[in-house]
Amino acid sequence: MRTITSIKNAKGGVPLTVITAYDSLFASIFNGKTDMILVGDSLNMSFNSKLDTLSATLDIMIYHTKAVCLGAPDTFVICDMPFSTYTDEKMALKNASRVYQETTAHAVKIEGGSERAHIIKSLTQNSIAVVGHIGLMPQFVRSEGGYKIRGKDEQDTLRLIEDAKAVEAAGAFCVVIEGVKAEAAKRISESISIPTIGIGAGSDTDGQVLVWSDMLGFFQKFQPKFVKRYLDGANLVTDAVDHYVSDVQTRKFPATEHTY
Ligand code: KIV
Repeated sequence: MRTITSIKNAKGGVPLTVITAYDSLFASIFNGKTDMILVGDSLNMSFNSKLDTLSATLDIMIYHTKAVCLGAPDTFVICDMPFSTYTDEKMALKNASRVYQETTAHAVKIEGGSERAHIIKSLTQNSIAVVGHIGLMPQFVRSEGGYKIRGKDEQDTLRLIEDAKAVEAAGAFCVVIEGVKAEAAKRISESISIPTIGIGAGSDTDGQVLVWSDMLGFFQKFQPKFVKRYLDGANLVTDAVDHYVSDVQTRKFPATEHTY
């Protein structure tokens, strides 16, 4: 089981591996395989068919985090703080404390750079471990007018470096960098001493995170460029269900060995 110290010490070494999980069954399959499991608010889209992550609530995140912690007792688990649950320090502390009190998650994740550093600081000063999240931030999709790749020019890259430094100074122990040009992500990683976990940010970060239903081919609505599919999950399941339906309809199932 990873600890915050061992995660921090992984900076610059063998890349850290992170996968999302939303339920106990899949978490139990991932348990002990990756360095960390993230209960991402991406569950709102990939698990619950919503158009974006914004309607995920704290109750929903706590429900799924409890399940994941039960399924993956040997893995460091991070719970995403959903949209509008950390708009000020008091609210953030109250809501992140709920995550610690009602689940066994090891850390929470917060989207935002320099402008959210004071929130991160208020949590870390109250013994709540925080993962930062900078670059493309899905909770900002409506206010930003879409999912926009960051770090395309020098000015934006410098802004992101400032964000990463602010998140580190506020006490985050690692930071997710999402949807950032590879060269900019490399410079961000080099500019801070906590590990960077990339998603759509090239290969020069200190680790990678993927959404499980993307990487295992269960989410089929669209496939972002940064996703590599390691399994054709949806088609395998579809074939298996078709097979089951056919077996039942032709009375091949249940066979003698399935019968009392
Ligand atoms: O919600 C999520 O799954 C995330 C990852 C994409 C980093 O924040």
